[in-house]
Amino acid sequence: MRILTGLQPSGKLHVGNYFGAMEPAVQLQDEGEAYYFIADYHAMTSSQDSAALRENVRELAVDFLACGLDPEKAVFFRQSAVPEVNELAWILSSVCPMSLLAKCHSYKDKTAQGIAASHALFAYPVLMAADILLYDSNKVPVGKDQKQHLEVTRDIAVKLNEIYGADTVILPEPIIRADTAIVVGLDGRKMSKSYGNTLPIFGEEKPLKKLVMKITTDSTPVESPKPTEGSTILPLYKLFASSADYASMVADHEKGGVGYGDFKKRLADAYWEYFAPMRARRAEILADPSYVDRVLADGAERAREEATKVLCRVRKAVGLSPI
Ligand code: ADP
Ligand code: TRP
Repeated sequence: MRILTGLQPSGKLHVGNYFGAMEPAVQLQDEGEAYYFIADYHAMTSSQDSAALRENVRELAVDFLACGLDPEKAVFFRQSAVPEVNELAWILSSVCPMSLLAKCHSYKDKTAQGIAASHALFAYPVLMAADILLYDSNKVPVGKDQKQHLEVTRDIAVKLNEIYGADTVILPEPIIRADTAIVVGLDGRKMSKSYGNTLPIFGEEKPLKKLVMKITTDSTPVESPKPTEGSTILPLYKLFASSADYASMVADHEKGGVGYGDFKKRLADAYWEYFAPMRARRAEILADPSYVDRVLADGAERAREEATKVLCRVRKAVGLSPI
C-alpha cells in the first residue's frame, strides 16, 4: 500500500498542524510505503516571496524530521525536485472540465481572502491530482479542507481511465481525519495562522510559555468552580497531559479554589515537556547542516525513479510515446 501526502511550506509549525497533520503522517509511515513531500509548487500560488519560500521549505523539512519522519521508512522530497509532475498535470488538465475547478471552494476562499486569482491558483487541484497519481498512490491522508480536492483527483482519474484505458492511473482513496482532530487556538477558535491564534511547536521557552498565559478565559473568581464546557485550556491540556493529570485539572475546575493562572501554568509546562524530544532531535538536525539536504536529495532520487515509471506508462497510454 502506498500512502502519499503533501504539506505546504507556509511558516512556523503550530500545535494544530502537529496533531492534525504531522503526528498522523508519522504514525502512517509504519503502515505502508510512505511518500511525503513539501508542496513548494503549490506554495507559489499564494505567495511570490522567493526568500520566504526557500526558508519555509527548509524549516518544514527540519521540523518534519524533528517530529519523527523517518527517511529510512518514508520517501521525503520536495515537490519541485520531480518536475515530471508538471507534465502529468498538463495531461490531466486536458481531460479536466473547467466546471470541475470552478466549483472548488478553496479557490473561492483564497480569492476572497485577497490572494490573486492566478491561473495556477485555479489549476491548483490539477497539480494536486498529478502529485497523487504520479506515484500510484493508494491512500492519501488529508485534513477535511482537502476533501474536495481528493474528489477532483478521483474524477480526473476516472475520466483519464475512461478515455485511455482502465489501467492508465490508479484511483486513490482519501483518509479524511475526523473532526475531533481539530485543535483549538489560544482564543478558542480553530487554531490557524489566518486567525493569529497559534501556539508554535518550536521556539524560545519564555515567549512560548507567555503565549499560553495569554489564553482567553472568563472572569470566574478563583474560589468559584469553573466551567469545563467551552474551556480552551482543557482541550489543549488533554493533548499534552497524562490522563491522571488531565482528570485532576477537570476536578480542580469543578471544585473551585484554583485560578486560571494556575491552570495555564500547568498547561504551559505540559506543552513544553511534550515537545522536549522533538526539540532535542531538531537541535541534532540543525547541528549537521548538510543532513537535510542529503535526506531531500535521496528522497528526490527515489521519488523520481517511481515518477518516471508512471509517467512513461501514461505517456504511452495517451499517445505521447510509442507503445
Ligand atoms: P493554517 O490553518 O494554520 O493555515 P494549514 O491550512 O497550513 O494551517 O494546515 C496544514 C495542515 O495542518 C492541514 O493538514 C490541516 O488539516 C492541519 N491543521 C491546521 N490547523 C489545524 C487545527 N487547528 N487542528 C487540526 N489540524 C489542523
Ligand atoms: N493542498 C494540500 C494542502 O494545502 C497540500 C498538497 C499538495 C497535497 N499536493 C498534495 C496533499 C497531494 C495531499 C496530496 O494541505
